[in-house]
Amino acid sequence: MNFKDGLLTRRSIRNYKSGIIAKEIIGDLLKTAMYAPSAKNRQPWEFIVVTDKNVLKNIKDNHPFCSFIENAGHALIVCGNTMDEFLSGHWVTDCSAATENFMLACHEKGLGSCWCGIWPDEGITEYFVKTFNLPEHIKPLCLVVFGYPDGSEVRQPSSRFRTDKIHYEVF
Ligand SMILES: Cc1cc2nc3c(=O)[nH]c(=O)nc-3n(C[C@H](O)[C@H](O)[C@H](O)COP(=O)(O)O)c2cc1C
Repeated sequence: MNFKDGLLTRRSIRNYKSGIIAKEIIGDLLKTAMYAPSAKNRQPWEFIVVTDKNVLKNIKDNHPFCSFIENAGHALIVCGNTMDEFLSGHWVTDCSAATENFMLACHEKGLGSCWCGIWPDEGITEYFVKTFNLPEHIKPLCLVVFGYPDGSEVRQPSSRFRTDKIHYEVF
């Protein structure tokens, strides 16, 4: 896949077929996440890969916007480590960049993915902190549902380019 085409054709996928992705492939995907830019190159991310069906169901029952998670093979919880970040709050930006890399790498491999928000929702955050035993310095940013798309989502190429969003020199 051409790099630019990949950027322009990635879409959130919510319909999956069963299938477990090999650990080596997941490792490859996570490698791309770890090459994201981060403030002062502090790489303040931590990743939890979830494959257990019972856990996926439990997440579904506790996250209001990821009803499709059970059909996907996996979910990735992207967390920030505030002991590693440069300035307070950089974990959000750095881990967002890592998340996007991961999703683009999924797309390049023909896998589907969908970012499901955790931060800054306090209730959803509390659920993830409790369920995954996250210590105080580990902050969950988002859940990336990923797996084999079932092919039923025919996504039209989206048209998002807007010249009115571009400002030169001053706003
Ligand atoms: C911070 C953030 C939170 C999101 N949360 C959810 C979510 O909880 N559930 C969901 O189905 N999609 C979620 N999405 C996916 C967006 O709905 C999706 O990216 C957007 O509609 C654009 O569509 P596209 O990803 O196909 O380009 C989230 C995306 C972002 C960036």
